[in-house]
Amino acid sequence: MISDIVRWLEPYPVLYRPARSVYRAVSGVANGVREARSRRRERTIAREFHRVYYDAHLTRSDVKYQWLGVPIQKLPMDLCVLQEILWETRPEQIIECGVNFGGSTWFLATVCDAMNHGQILAVDISLASVWPQVPQHPRVEMVEMSSTSPEFVTLARERAAGKRTMVILDSDHTCDHVLKELRLHASLVSPGCYLICEDSNMNGHPVLESFGPGPYEALEQYLPEVPGMWTVDPRRERLLVTFNPNGYLLRNPL
Ligand SMILES: C[S@@+](CC[C@H](N)C(=O)[O-])C[C@H]1O[C@@H](n2cnc3c(N)ncnc32)[C@H](O)[C@@H]1O
Repeated sequence: MISDIVRWLEPYPVLYRPARSVYRAVSGVANGVREARSRRRERTIAREFHRVYYDAHLTRSDVKYQWLGVPIQKLPMDLCVLQEILWETRPEQIIECGVNFGGSTWFLATVCDAMNHGQILAVDISLASVWPQVPQHPRVEMVEMSSTSPEFVTLARERAAGKRTMVILDSDHTCDHVLKELRLHASLVSPGCYLICEDSNMNGHPVLESFGPGPYEALEQYLPEVPGMWTVDPRRERLLVTFNPNGYLLRNPL
């Protein structure tokens, strides 16, 4: 309607030009307000979905799912991002801390198969729950020890030596443990590759408010210790919901 009025003024340049400028400015502001409102709504709904999904995934067996037959404990959106990272960065060696049933290791191995590229070294303090096919996969080496033990530090360094390396931290999610893992293993990641610090959504980011300091807080401590080493990559959080807020770290060039 207002645009019609502006158009009517077209034969009178003295009136038309200022009217058109005002109209454009007002429409710009109105679009900005609409956009901001829609983003706010998107964030609120995504946060709510995150909470609902997280609770269901912890407590309801019908919400649990498998990757090619092995139970896995990641948000499907994060898996989608993970395959994107693998495809784009093509790591030769993946170090994975925290295995449980083995679904995430199986995911890594099958995506590596599809790319015909990559090996996985996976560690867990107990391999009792691992599904048997996972450690038998030719791309997988699986060891039972703590991810912060001197033995594992040595093994991870050996496997990463001279290889394009990626690291995934998904073991004990207490702040102290994750901080130790970051300090011990982050430097194994090659420039242009990623470290994924999983489950930084705990302790109210936005789930498990009473968990206490976890991966999110470990990252808050660790990142200022190594200025310029990492870019916290917001592109990897663009699917609106992630269990790993601020947890996709891209290693900067040396
Ligand atoms: C969240 S689960 C891993 C889930 C798996 N990555 C997935 O996405 O399907 C965490 C695992 O970390 C293991 N864990 C706990 N403390 C550990 C430690 N100090 N070193 C290695 N693994 C540990 C637990 O035994 C558990 O199996």
